[in-house]
Amino acid sequence: MKHIELRDLNVSRIGLGAMGMSHGYTGAGADDAESVRTIHRALELGVTFIDTAEVYGPYVNEELVGRALKGRRDQVVLATKFGLISHTGRPGPTDSSPENVRAAVEGSLRRLGTEHIDLYYQHRVDAGTPIEDTVGCLAELVAEGKIGHIGLSEAGPDTIRRAHAVHPVTAVQSEYSLFTRDPEARVLPVLRELNIGFVPFSPLGRGFLTGTIRSTDQFDPTDFRADNPRFTDENFQYNLRLADQVAAVAVEIGVTPAQVALAWLLAQGDDIAPIPGTRRVARVEENTAADAVHLTDDQLARLTGLPPAAGDTHTESQMRIMER
Ligand SMILES: NC(=O)c1ccc[n+]([C@@H]2O[C@H](COP(=O)([O-])OP(=O)(O)OC[C@H]3O[C@@H](n4cnc5c(N)ncnc54)[C@H](OP(=O)(O)O)[C@@H]3O)[C@@H](O)[C@H]2O)c1
Repeated sequence: MKHIELRDLNVSRIGLGAMGMSHGYTGAGADDAESVRTIHRALELGVTFIDTAEVYGPYVNEELVGRALKGRRDQVVLATKFGLISHTGRPGPTDSSPENVRAAVEGSLRRLGTEHIDLYYQHRVDAGTPIEDTVGCLAELVAEGKIGHIGLSEAGPDTIRRAHAVHPVTAVQSEYSLFTRDPEARVLPVLRELNIGFVPFSPLGRGFLTGTIRSTDQFDPTDFRADNPRFTDENFQYNLRLADQVAAVAVEIGVTPAQVALAWLLAQGDDIAPIPGTRRVARVEENTAADAVHLTDDQLARLTGLPPAAGDTHTESQMRIMER
């Protein structure tokens, strides 16, 4: 497995997203034993970058990751996130006040069973707290050794610049895949200018690009995708055609669509480390093997030329707290 630098943080260039083990998708939380095996298998395959968040579950995903990493903590760069749960009683979808960050970090450290978090992301920009105050608090946590590096998620260019002026930002994590190209126009250029790494989340288009989702009947009501605009009605039918194009390239080279989707992302730069999510051993093996998949210039050009997916990435209320 090749490694890259997210600014000054060395990670395997394919990581593992743990969210779906406890949260977000049909059947989440159904088989913790297989999820733990999946994390262990990822480590065996050379994955060193594990992603979780306080809000996944909530809390139980960090506990699961903490259990899985017992005795193996030093093998991974451990990333988690704060800011979508308020411990201060403040109403609203976000709370990145210093008081809340302090409360959140103690909980995450306890659940993860660790003395330090390698990469601590603000999960969404908080309209109620100047980013300078949040990052000032994070810089104190770095100085205290509780966190190693600072990250932002779904932040816009201005926020990234303001945050970076207070303390170096190591990585920004936003949705990016053949299904969601939004970061290319405004965010990636700023990250490259400032030498900040990029971590694409949902790099498989929330499963869509793998070709295994053919009907919305596959989702139970707790599944994030059940009311996601990309997965509903005519958008779903349109987006199936994009997944088919990815599958066609996979057939040409004798690999899987998931591997093509990841290989395309890896080809976008050595500052990019996607974190595909799975709770199954067989799929972590498949996804990790994308490290060795080579796309020709012609295949890359065809994939890059695919039209954007139809439908917003999130529901209207979720969209309101993104890219600030
Ligand atoms: N910062 C943020 O706001 C944010 C938001 C969303 C996600 N994330 C992070 O990004 C990680 C990845 O994103 P994601 O899980 O939303 O989406 P994803 O990686 O694009 O796709 C995950 C989905 O695809 C399925 N899948 C995985 N590998 C597959 C394969 N080879 N073949 C067929 N299906 C496959 C998974 O099902 P199975 O589990 O059943 O295999 C799951 O339903 C998350 O785990 C989380 O850590 C961050």
